[in-house]
Amino acid sequence: MDKILVHGGRSLEGQVRIGGSKNSALPILAATLLTKEKCVIDCVPDLSDIHYMLTILSQLGAEVERASGVVQILAEKIRTEAPYEIVRKMRASVCVLGPLLGREKKAKVSLPGGCVIGDRPIDLHLKGFEALGAKVTVKGGDILLEASRLRGARINLRGRQGPTVLGTGNVMMAAVLAEGETVIEGAAEEPEVVDLADFLTAMGARISGAGTQRLEIEGVKELHAAKHTVIPDRIEAGTFLVAGAIAGKKVTITRTNPRHLEAVLTALTTAGFEISHTEESVTISPNGSRKPLHLETLPYPGFPTDMQAQFCAMLATRHGTSVVTETVFPQRFMHVAELKRMGANIELSDHRATIHGVEQLSGAPVMASDLRASAALVLAALPADGVTEINRVYHIDRGYERIDEKLNSLGAHIERVKA
Ligand code: EPZ
Repeated sequence: MDKILVHGGRSLEGQVRIGGSKNSALPILAATLLTKEKCVIDCVPDLSDIHYMLTILSQLGAEVERASGVVQILAEKIRTEAPYEIVRKMRASVCVLGPLLGREKKAKVSLPGGCVIGDRPIDLHLKGFEALGAKVTVKGGDILLEASRLRGARINLRGRQGPTVLGTGNVMMAAVLAEGETVIEGAAEEPEVVDLADFLTAMGARISGAGTQRLEIEGVKELHAAKHTVIPDRIEAGTFLVAGAIAGKKVTITRTNPRHLEAVLTALTTAGFEISHTEESVTISPNGSRKPLHLETLPYPGFPTDMQAQFCAMLATRHGTSVVTETVFPQRFMHVAELKRMGANIELSDHRATIHGVEQLSGAPVMASDLRASAALVLAALPADGVTEINRVYHIDRGYERIDEKLNSLGAHIERVKA
């Protein structure tokens, strides 16, 4: 198992290129199951979560070829049962449910287990499938879906915690091959849902309203081959901007879409940084004084939960007293205990962190937990005094392509060693 050593105190400067979005690529790869024809997906990031998804698709019978970011998938004949050994490694495996149900009218996939960022039910996905006419059974740890036919329906997918991103994608993927019209109210508006809708449309699906809370889907008989380029990863982009904020002189991220980053850019500006952008790049530089923030995570276009941990790392030093409230995954604060090991002064109560910025953090051995919490530790370590040793690095590799190499190219000093 690898670990990462971050030698603190280097300042960052330069340009870094952002990869394709993990959270777009995962459901898009699953969607290739909806056709017997070959699909070609470009800008697929090289991440362990993507590897798991490709393995699941192969196990389901698809022919998968991959060469430098381009994945070709031919799912001519498929099976409908996804094996537990792989599914259990990644919660996003549930994305194959919608396509299997849509195409084969049946699916058997293990129910995802607990998740470190909190209880992550899939009741809304199942409610959507039921509304389309599927019989849903949970038995022996598996979700079983079965339908003689799927019929378009009106479905409200808004849950107690707001809309569901993968749930919206999953139900949309089943509905594109249902008979008649489906209307999804309370749909997630995330750019990743729009990207999936764009790919499905390229395959011949008829979808309108992507990017709003109301999706209308006119079912078609079959889908066909398509090519698609995955959008840039807005969370990787945001993470490198926070790296620039924490330790940068001037850092530019390229191959990004600033429109997807509005809430993050607003927060960085409010926190005292200078931001400029073009159509495809964003530059961050320090601008004198650093200010505290009052942040609340929200579904898109609000401030993303996937950037909460990285902002906590930034606010842990020299920003006065900030308050960060997590409304999407109220228990997603595993990074706080580890940041405290580095000298941060953070009080946690309920789903809120009050962060009293200290002058400097110090390097310490810390434990990576979920993906974004782990990235936050790398960020916190950049300006810290001494060396931070981050264990369980595989969490970072699930969602960041070569984060150590990319940060080193900006001037950081990060080593990856075998534990
Ligand atoms: C997606 O997860 C992302 N994952 C997550 O990215 C991200 O944090 C999350 O959306 C929110 O933006 C992928 O895209 C692979 P949700 P998803 O369903 O779709 C509740 C990362 O770090 N809910 O939108 O699974 C749920 O508990 C990650 O890359 C239900 O109650 O999240 C949560 O409180 C991790 N019932 C809220 O909705 C359901 O059936 C939003 O979750 C589904 C969700």
